[in-house]
Amino acid sequence: NIGQLADEANVKVYVVGGFVRDLLLGVENLDIDLVVEGDGIAFSTRLARFLRARLRVHEKFGTAMLVWDDQKIDVATARREFYQHPAALPQVEASNLRQDLYRRDFTINALAIQLNLPAFGYLVDFFSGRRDLEQGLIRVLYNLSFVEDPTRIIRAIRFEQRYGFMMEAETLEFAHEAISRKMIGEVSFERMFDELLLILQEKNPVPALCRVTEFGIWEFFLPDLQWSDGLESELANVTTLQHLLKEQQWWDSKSQWISYFLVLTKHLKPDGIEVALQRYPLKLWIREAIVTISEEGFRVAQELDKWLKGGKNSELDEILQGWSVEAFLSLRATYPVQETILLLEAWQAIRKTSISITGNDIKALGIKPGPIYGEIMNRLRVERLDGTVQSSE
Ligand code: CTP
Repeated sequence: NIGQLADEANVKVYVVGGFVRDLLLGVENLDIDLVVEGDGIAFSTRLARFLRARLRVHEKFGTAMLVWDDQKIDVATARREFYQHPAALPQVEASNLRQDLYRRDFTINALAIQLNLPAFGYLVDFFSGRRDLEQGLIRVLYNLSFVEDPTRIIRAIRFEQRYGFMMEAETLEFAHEAISRKMIGEVSFERMFDELLLILQEKNPVPALCRVTEFGIWEFFLPDLQWSDGLESELANVTTLQHLLKEQQWWDSKSQWISYFLVLTKHLKPDGIEVALQRYPLKLWIREAIVTISEEGFRVAQELDKWLKGGKNSELDEILQGWSVEAFLSLRATYPVQETILLLEAWQAIRKTSISITGNDIKALGIKPGPIYGEIMNRLRVERLDGTVQSSE
């Protein structure tokens, strides 16, 4: 029991933040954040021994991370942060729980539950976070919150849409003020990318993206993006398709953001694409997908449409050679979902089809090794896909 360990170590331990918020809302959340009043690192060491967890310590920040099986706990020493200048990363100093919670983003994230035994389960609510949870309000803890950390505006948008909450009136004013002072422009591109990614990983990112449009802050993400009803409905199609793919377990939801991102970049002109590629730390295959969609997307989309009117499997295989599911979804986002599902099913069947023949089998037929081997294998694959040759398995 964590509370008992805390008592033995003579420190006070609280679970804080998103976990408490979601517990009160009845939403699952497996990310546990602990705050320790006292020596957080010494406590983490004890806890790691107790849980037989791996421990990673950041002495400078007074934080530690414990990992075991597929579970994770973050431990922090109660601290107060100073921002040397707006939008900078904070400097840290040991302090108490109240100050630790006060430096956070919103009242609903500034709740804590004590874990020490005598008071186990006691809800610490310095800033009326519980009331705001009940009323569905996102409220900052201090006036300069958005100025110190403008990414909180994006977080507010995300939480609003995730829980169906609203920014409280004064908080909304602070957000508008920080936006009109171009504070978001002070944030590094990496952090902006992280925030965009978090939105795109939400269960349904579309409402939050509409809100980004309402606030007029696309310029800080993708400067040339022109929001339109068409774009919105493409994004909604991607949501529908992804839900279907998830149900069929043909989809890794960790990469959910990619299809949305590719739909957004599809709506950029070449200059806008250039900016996105320069700004964001994207993997090579995603960069290539962005360029391919912009250069070949139209042609491939037309070929797919033609294929739907009656094409052979091998032709579909050829058309989609080198395409990822993510890029495919973004390409098909403008088309009726039903037809895209047909394509996906055919494509999935093709991907499962393999030829069991190897180079050695061809050699056994007495054919001399050479380019002919590749041709034979290809031919067999085509025949197999189109059903003229059955597998011998
Ligand atoms: N936090 C903050 N300002 C930020 C980011 C985070 O004050 N710019 C605080 C919040 O109070 C949050 C805590 O740090 O509760 C942990 O952050 P994170 O893990 O991002 O937040 P969660 O609230 O758990 O959000 P999510 O459910 O999206 O993981």
